Amino acid sequence: MVKRVVASAPGKIILFGEHAVVYGEPAVAVAIDRRARVIVEERGDFEVRISAPDLSLEAGFDLERGFSEDSFSFFEIPQRLKNVVRAVEVSLNACNLKRGLNIEINSDIPPSAGLGSSASVAVATVAAVGKCLTGDSWESEKVSKLAFEAEKIVHGTPSGIDNTISAYGGGIIFQQGKIERLDIGAQVSIIIGDTKVERSTKKLVSHVRSICEKYPSIGLPIIRLIGSLTLEGIESLKMGDFEGLGELMDINQGLLDAVGVSHLSLSKMIFAAREAGAYGAKLSGAGGGGCMIALTSPENAKNVLEAIEMSGGRAVPAAFSMRGVTVESEE
Ligand code: PMV
Repeated sequence: MVKRVVASAPGKIILFGEHAVVYGEPAVAVAIDRRARVIVEERGDFEVRISAPDLSLEAGFDLERGFSEDSFSFFEIPQRLKNVVRAVEVSLNACNLKRGLNIEINSDIPPSAGLGSSASVAVATVAAVGKCLTGDSWESEKVSKLAFEAEKIVHGTPSGIDNTISAYGGGIIFQQGKIERLDIGAQVSIIIGDTKVERSTKKLVSHVRSICEKYPSIGLPIIRLIGSLTLEGIESLKMGDFEGLGELMDINQGLLDAVGVSHLSLSKMIFAAREAGAYGAKLSGAGGGGCMIALTSPENAKNVLEAIEMSGGRAVPAAFSMRGVTVESEE
């Protein structure tokens, strides 16, 4: 029986379709080369201890005292670890086992920035617990499905895009829980600009919902337009038409701004990137702070990176990553 397992899972960017995806429209997500790593060890008792040294967070609970939101003072668990608790719960249930575990989380994905950090942690936790207790490497589909339960703790009504792309890696078209793999060309550079402004996906998703409820004849058509735009974007991506792709990213940004999920810090960096010659730029993820992305030719990447830094952001060159959830080691 495997006793100690390390699993990792990537963060992501959304090229098109955030928010609209919650309403059943398609979205395009791509995994990036930043990952969450989770170490799971069997303890030999019924305690579960979770630590995230990077965030100086710890939590623990006793499986023998029951395993539900009510019975182990769920509210006492730090907010950022609640999804890990849920990921452990669903994984133990899937194994039909009750075993004490030590769980350590490390991540180089900025949290609360729209790069899917919470989903990556949930995905890596599920894979590591599954491998540790059963000896099997679970399929991406199973890992994603279980991690989705943990995402609900963080986001309320998540579309499932974050856990899906983190489990599968590469590029995907995501719509209503269904995925289609997408080939992503390497001839283009992505620069991520982190505003360092933290925000809550849950609040931003409910803000869009309130706009759609208050002005259904305006909000809902915007959502549908984002869906049409995503389909155009997929065609541009398949043809390697980066000029067209950039133009559509700019339109997508305008529509996201219209439903109130942009932020001054994002707008500054987006305009700076465009002026520096990016094909296009938009926020990525829930918005309200977090990250923007700029699409640029590799030759122009340095200019775009500097322009983002000059406008107050932390610029991170990103590479697409084909690697989804991975069991890295087992002892
Ligand atoms: O949590 P973020 O910032 O990666 O945003 C997720 C994308 C949304 O469409 C805003 C929400 C969702 O569940 O799809």
